[in-house]
Amino acid sequence: MTRTPQAAAEEAAAELRSRTGVDAYDVALVMGSGWASAADLLGDSGQELPTTELPGFVPPAVEGHSGTVRSIRAGDRSLLAFLGRTHLYEGHGTDAVVHGVRTAVAAGATTVVLTNAAGGINPAYAVGSPVLIADHLNMTARSPLTGATFVDLTETYTPALRELARSVDPSLPEGVYAAMPGPHFETPAEIRMLSAMGADLVGMSTVLEAIAARAAGARVLGLSLVTNVAAGLTGANLDHEDVLATGRDAAGTVGRLLADITAKL
Ligand code: 6GU
Repeated sequence: MTRTPQAAAEEAAAELRSRTGVDAYDVALVMGSGWASAADLLGDSGQELPTTELPGFVPPAVEGHSGTVRSIRAGDRSLLAFLGRTHLYEGHGTDAVVHGVRTAVAAGATTVVLTNAAGGINPAYAVGSPVLIADHLNMTARSPLTGATFVDLTETYTPALRELARSVDPSLPEGVYAAMPGPHFETPAEIRMLSAMGADLVGMSTVLEAIAARAAGARVLGLSLVTNVAAGLTGANLDHEDVLATGRDAAGTVGRLLADITAKL
């Protein structure tokens, strides 16, 4: 029989512990496009290693996603920040997508913060601003869970953590994040469909990680950075470069927000 995803995560967590010298992490953060530089504001950086030096991680595929994991000390707590993530569109399957989250939980993390770059569907959102994820639409038609794993997703994004985030920034809007498989952006018709279904944001990540984190018993906080308006809503075309540029421009603001929230988790 092949190794289970849980066994793979425990193996990676053991290697992580021995490489960083940290016995147990408290909080894990997955830094998506536009969020990676925020890691510098979270605390005192310790060891940082390429994720590929840990068992079970696949090499990063996309420009703007660095593929390292950093150990950070913030007060009396240990944070684990993944700078970059594996996406479903890279073709390695759902286990590869959620391996970081499973590894973090195996290394002790009880809180998982998931960040991403997203297209704005809700016209109230300004490009360059952060949005709290209230709930999601999993449009990937995939689950990271196998077998009879009937996980309750009524409160996928932990209400107490959303409240805590809003206590840091009361103007932080909340929205429903729709995850598409990618790697292409949506058509205008698909954006109208997602809007009719209740989506405020659209992206290509986060939901499988959130499901895996909940299944592993962790609390989840999700934050999107609106890097562009979704297709067909403004007449403008979409460009991955614009997504990255908006991320760079917003890095300071979202970094401070994330640091302030993380300090209270
Ligand atoms: Cl418009 N769509 C998707 N799927 N992902 C995105 C995006 C749009 N903007 C940033 N990431």
